[in-house]
Amino acid sequence: MHSPRWSLHGQRALVTGASAGIGLAICRELLGLGAQVLMVARDAELLEQARAELEDEFPGPEDAVLALPADVTDDEQRAEIIDWAADQGGLHLLVNNAGGNLTRPALDYGEDQWRGIFETNLFSAFELCRLAHPLLSKHAASSIVNIGSVSGLTHVRSGAPYGMSKAALHQMTKNLAVEWAEDGIRVNAVAPWYIRTRRTSGKLADPDYLDEVLLRTPLGRIGEPEEVAAAVAFLCLPAASYITGECIAVDGGFLRYGF
Ligand SMILES: NC(=O)c1ccc[n+]([C@@H]2O[C@H](COP(=O)([O-])OP(=O)(O)OC[C@H]3O[C@@H](n4cnc5c(N)ncnc54)[C@H](OP(=O)(O)O)[C@@H]3O)[C@@H](O)[C@H]2O)c1
Repeated sequence: MHSPRWSLHGQRALVTGASAGIGLAICRELLGLGAQVLMVARDAELLEQARAELEDEFPGPEDAVLALPADVTDDEQRAEIIDWAADQGGLHLLVNNAGGNLTRPALDYGEDQWRGIFETNLFSAFELCRLAHPLLSKHAASSIVNIGSVSGLTHVRSGAPYGMSKAALHQMTKNLAVEWAEDGIRVNAVAPWYIRTRRTSGKLADPDYLDEVLLRTPLGRIGEPEEVAAAVAFLCLPAASYITGECIAVDGGFLRYGF
């Protein structure tokens, strides 16, 4: 049995973008630490597959892992997500992981396209934080983790709107951390570099591009979703009780490598 400082037993977590990649790995990590997990993503079939997979891996109470298909960019659906969480008994942990991108030169974006990137990566997270606040603040200690990106800290050929949205997500993390400390809510972020998911598989399949990425990564390899999930889980744990407003890079040393 883990010490309570390294356990999430009795805590309920909502994870957005939970059906694949980093989000699915986060759900797995939180479940392994004893949390109940509420999963959200748009594609109902993929989401149910992911939920059933986790249920098989972690046999236990039948409501240990639940799923609701929803789009975090939609006002009404965001409200439904939080109502659903309230119906389960409230929330201790919120992980804003859903994100998306469209990479192109700044001059080539249509207005709907670049605004859409902000809707998915930033505005949805801000609204979910605000909607979840009454549930999170009911407990003595709650935690929000936002999945940012190294692209919010430096240029990484992601396209400007993605980097802009992630930079703002990092700043939102700092602002809410300070505002909501008195409500018992810690707010932190994690900033990954290249992680092996369906989103990155296309680009990394190009051997020349992969070589360039690896040359800029001191640890010399692509990250795995569970390596991001471990940082998220740490920030959720009581063991991280004095950490708020922080952003942990999970980047194989990328941000520290100048030449
Ligand atoms: N992979 C990387 O190298 C990397 C690097 C830095 C940061 N990140 C960040 O990490 C997060 C996860 O990325 P990933 O690589 O794991 O992506 P992914 O494999 O494409 O998975 C994205 C997840 O988000 C869901 N999603 C997307 N838009 C949504 C919406 N509007 N509402 C609800 N769910 C939505 C997707 O399911 P549906 O499509 O069915 O909704 C899926 O479950 C993102 O915020 C991304 O920006 C990733």
